[in-house]
Amino acid sequence: MSIKRLNQTLGNEIEELKKVGTAKKPEMVVYDVVQASGDRGPRFKVKGYDQEFIKMNSNSYLGLSQRDDLKKVEEEATAKYGLGPGAVRFISGSYDIHLELEKGLAEFHGMEAGMLFSSAYMTTLGVMASLVSTETTVVSDELNHNCIINAMRMTRPKAKHIYKHLDMEDLKNCLEKSKGQCERVVVVTDGIFSMRGDHAPLDEISTICEQYDAFFKDGVVLVVDDSHGVGAFGQNGKGTIEFTKATGVDVLIGTLGKAFGVNGGYTVTSKTVVEYLHQKAPTYIYSNPISPGEAAAARKALDILKSEEGKKILAHLRDMTKKFKQGIVDIGFETLPGEHPVVPLMVRDTQKTSELVAFLEKNGILATGLNYPVVPKGDEEIRFQISGEHTSSDIDTVLSILKEYRKLNG
Ligand SMILES: Cc1ncc(COP(=O)(O)O)c(C=O)c1O
Repeated sequence: MSIKRLNQTLGNEIEELKKVGTAKKPEMVVYDVVQASGDRGPRFKVKGYDQEFIKMNSNSYLGLSQRDDLKKVEEEATAKYGLGPGAVRFISGSYDIHLELEKGLAEFHGMEAGMLFSSAYMTTLGVMASLVSTETTVVSDELNHNCIINAMRMTRPKAKHIYKHLDMEDLKNCLEKSKGQCERVVVVTDGIFSMRGDHAPLDEISTICEQYDAFFKDGVVLVVDDSHGVGAFGQNGKGTIEFTKATGVDVLIGTLGKAFGVNGGYTVTSKTVVEYLHQKAPTYIYSNPISPGEAAAARKALDILKSEEGKKILAHLRDMTKKFKQGIVDIGFETLPGEHPVVPLMVRDTQKTSELVAFLEKNGILATGLNYPVVPKGDEEIRFQISGEHTSSDIDTVLSILKEYRKLNG
């Protein structure tokens, strides 16, 4: 019975996190949703609070997660197929709706084939575990998402080189020093970096990868995790590839759990890579896929995104993002340039970030305060995320509360 001693050790570690201020806050628990009506978007009821909240920290960028038509499609698929898949894909957990969705995603992104995983995190782990051999060097942006960092740890490449955030000269340095050292290079980057909503210059990155390709037996493979970009960024919601007009991305990873409003992850790439991942990716082979209901809802979300209605939602999302960005600048706050619906309000101070988050919370606004070590010291910020379900009046409400804070605090 070692659980007592384990509890003691882990308990001490938790206390230490609380003492140094890096412990996660208790989770806010939503217990009801007041659906959108008139010029009001949805409001969320949270346990322990009297006020209803506007969510300015949701990844559901198109607002699809609350739509009745999507809920209906999920219900119908669940009624037809049952709840869970009952097994991993290659045993008996493959349903026609999974295959339809994979085909649809591949077509949408202009790739040969698609493959679903239970989440984008699991997709990245599965892709990297399969593509990184003992003769592979991985080259990664320093601000890549935790799933890429952990994938690099797990896969134990021959070498890892980290380049400075978005620094193309440093990327070239990493490729330069890899010459003659390995057979394959995997360059891996987020498309959108979720902390600040900035994006990787995929056009430049793919050109650089091409320039170095011939120096390695298996070439330079470009893997992009665009979880915050797919569905939300680019004229047609095709993500950072569309926005940057890049042509050389070899493996694209996306999520169904953000703009698509559902749950799950996917990759789209060549037929051969997908076939290989079917044989090798542990997070695919040994873990259940998303449920048939989720797959059906995601397929419907994709149809909406491709339709005229989807284009209207994207246009509204861009308008609301622009309005909010301009609004916070007019009040006198600092933000960063960019068109993605992640809008950082740069506070650049830990204490003030916490104070502003608390003020917003008191006034019924949910936003995310990001302090060191999640962001570098001096880059403390409040991350706002705009959604297609925010109305112009919702944005005005949030801006008026920010204005009030400014008046009270200077
Ligand atoms: C780049 C990136 N990859 C993966 C994920 C995780 O996505 P999922 O919830 O589908 O695992 C995120 C979410 O924050 C992300 O930003």
